[in-house]
Amino acid sequence: MASVDSSPSAWPCAALRDADLARRTTLRVGGQAEWLLEPATPEEFQDAWRAARERGFVPRLLGGGANLVVDDGVLPGVVIATDRMRRIFRPFPEVSGEEALNSETPRGEMVQRDPAEDPRLVCWAGATMPALLRSARELGYSGLEGIVGVPGQVGGGVAMNAGGKWGDMWDCIELVRVGNDDGSFVDIAREDADPLYRNANLGGRPVIGAVLRFDPQPKLLIQERMSEYLLHKRTVQPVTEWSAGCVFKNPDPEISDGRSAGRLVDEVGGKELSRGGAIVSPLHGNFIVNTGQATATDVFTLMEDLHDLVAQKTGIDLVFEVKRWRAQDVLTAPTS
Ligand code: EPU
Repeated sequence: MASVDSSPSAWPCAALRDADLARRTTLRVGGQAEWLLEPATPEEFQDAWRAARERGFVPRLLGGGANLVVDDGVLPGVVIATDRMRRIFRPFPEVSGEEALNSETPRGEMVQRDPAEDPRLVCWAGATMPALLRSARELGYSGLEGIVGVPGQVGGGVAMNAGGKWGDMWDCIELVRVGNDDGSFVDIAREDADPLYRNANLGGRPVIGAVLRFDPQPKLLIQERMSEYLLHKRTVQPVTEWSAGCVFKNPDPEISDGRSAGRLVDEVGGKELSRGGAIVSPLHGNFIVNTGQATATDVFTLMEDLHDLVAQKTGIDLVFEVKRWRAQDVLTAPTS
């Protein structure tokens, strides 16, 4: 691995050394990234990606940190955070999705134009999910109400096909731009994609941006549906506490007799388990909550405990939905 110049100015975008990651995740555990790069545009992302690869690192991608457990200590290598790539805008009617995703394409407010004429939104990866839902609601764009309350950013939401019983992120996707290992971008149209349950099936490639197409509907109806779903969610999930969302994917209903991961944890007594400052939410068995002082080690251990308990008592091998960044996994790329 090539050595890295220790000055932030050695990188082609904003860069931080030994950056704290815990506050950039919704679970609030974990240590630092040796390097954290913060591109502000897709082009800067490309430059940052290439610079990391040239220095021998496979960058880890950090979106809203909503589905992620970061290890304690220093994570060697490079993390690219998409926080600053947060644009959401309406493309001009004559502009294709591909063109609209290029940052040099002119953007306008277009306050005069009826939003229903061209119900599309273009988002860069770092746009937050709540901001996207707010924009859609304000424009009378229906389609994503079902994912109200999902935290994080569009990039992560697209990559993992975030969703729940009322719908998934990919219900509205028209086009997704992803990055290849060499930093080049490729656009994938909805009809050429094969998104799966909680996995958009993009080959692990980073999502750079997306074009979404909606169904124009009265704002009031959209607002009502969002409020109803959110209210329900608040009664069954610990939405205001520090967590990484659902720990496990729901198992195949044929194997589990239709029981969700949360219900299985509940049935086998998993809600009684805790490790240090990490507990299983009394509200929902598929959430681990950081009560304030949890370490990543507490969370990793509790995740394994839950997995093993369900396996022992039911024979079901639950699959982790949350991503785990372990400090020992050093990701290196060949340098040319
Ligand atoms: N249940 C229990 N005990 C529990 C938790 C749930 O008995 O501790 C029962 C519930 O009573 C219900 C069933 O299990 O009958 C399913 O629970 P819920 O309706 O809460 O849905 P879920 O399948 O656990 C899924 C998604 C959530 C999404 C919700 C709502 C997965 C793994 N989970 O949860 O997504 O918010 O539906 O749409 O797909 C996430 O992906 O991070 C996530 C939280």
